[in-house]
Amino acid sequence: MRCSPFIYVLLMMLSLPASLFAQSNELKLDTGEEIYKAACIGCHGPNGKGQPESTLGFEKPPQFPDFSDCNGTTRERVFDWTATIHEGGPGRGFSEIMPSFSEALTLDQIKKVTDYIRSLCDDKTWPLGELNLPRPFFTEKAFPEDEWVLTTAVNTKSPGAVAGELIYERRFGARNQLEFAAPFGFFERDNRSWVGGLGDLVLGYKRVLFHSGGKGSILSLQGEVDMPTGNRTQNLGSGVTTFATFAAFGQRLPRFAFLQVQGGAELPTNTNKASQAVFIHTAVGKTFAQNRGFGRSWTPMVEFLADRDLETSARTNWDIVPEVQFSLSKRQHILASVGVRRPINNTFGRTTQLVFYVLWDWFDGSLREGW
Ligand code: HEC
Repeated sequence: MRCSPFIYVLLMMLSLPASLFAQSNELKLDTGEEIYKAACIGCHGPNGKGQPESTLGFEKPPQFPDFSDCNGTTRERVFDWTATIHEGGPGRGFSEIMPSFSEALTLDQIKKVTDYIRSLCDDKTWPLGELNLPRPFFTEKAFPEDEWVLTTAVNTKSPGAVAGELIYERRFGARNQLEFAAPFGFFERDNRSWVGGLGDLVLGYKRVLFHSGGKGSILSLQGEVDMPTGNRTQNLGSGVTTFATFAAFGQRLPRFAFLQVQGGAELPTNTNKASQAVFIHTAVGKTFAQNRGFGRSWTPMVEFLADRDLETSARTNWDIVPEVQFSLSKRQHILASVGVRRPINNTFGRTTQLVFYVLWDWFDGSLREGW
């Protein structure tokens, strides 16, 4: 049977004498567990596993959570849960069956109940969603993701060039992620015609080495193979298989600020065709959310990029990238970012580029859900 959530809540109020709505004054609501048992267990069930549909009286929405499942629970941020509980499901693009508790619970009580939900997965090998920092353009993140990202960079001066990359990331287990990237490019030639095509495909594996929710730190290592699928004479590929490796570090700072650092090396198997290179990328930024912290999020950040070929005459190329990431969907699982990549030195042959991306965290919902 499907019934309207309003009728359902009404039925709950009538049928559960211990319900928060009916007798809030007499209930003990001191601990997260007590709050959970009073206000949440009717739908979310003992231990967060969710009541069966026969008890619920409504069809479970596709994203109905099992809070005891570490894979689903650890990756969420308490911040996002707080918004869902305070604003109700529709505040985060969830079903309206999930009620708003802005009247019934104080922010302190919501904090206690989210801490309780967190405690339902006690396997510490899973890094917490708090360590999943906003994605910069060039500084790779340490957190393992389930994502599609489409990035594009456009030259602001001639010769014209549009370079992009479609990236697919798939997490498996607590600490691992596979990554597949398909770069592409379109370039203007001297005679003003354009050439374009696929670049060098990349296959990567990331593993989290260390993470601490308390310290707000996460460190990962990634290994990659770049395959010479792109046409070298048309500047689309290096023409040689390249191994790349990097370490990525993320640090949460107070008040939703963060620092991310990625350093690594590119090691082509044939150095006559492409040179070995090292790089260090850094991003600092801070997230702001509209509507008292429950609405659209905005993350201005700035990246500093240092890249250097390992040749005796080579100099380090420095770039600066001011950028802003913002959420598109209410659920915050579809995000976009815009920025400007500006060379600071060695500007010959390196022009300023406009950069864009759209990102879809497909674990959190389909492209149509969550708006
Ligand atoms: C009337 C039933 C009902 C009650 C009572 C209820 N919830 Fe929910 N809640 C839901 C439903 C249904 C969803 C899933 C919505 C969806 O997937 O669209 C949900 C989703 C959530 C989510 C989002 C999970 C995610 O995937 O990010 C959180 C967090 C949550 N509830 C916490 C609570 C807490 C805490 C309480 C008690 C204070 C509570 N809920 C009480 C029905 C309920």
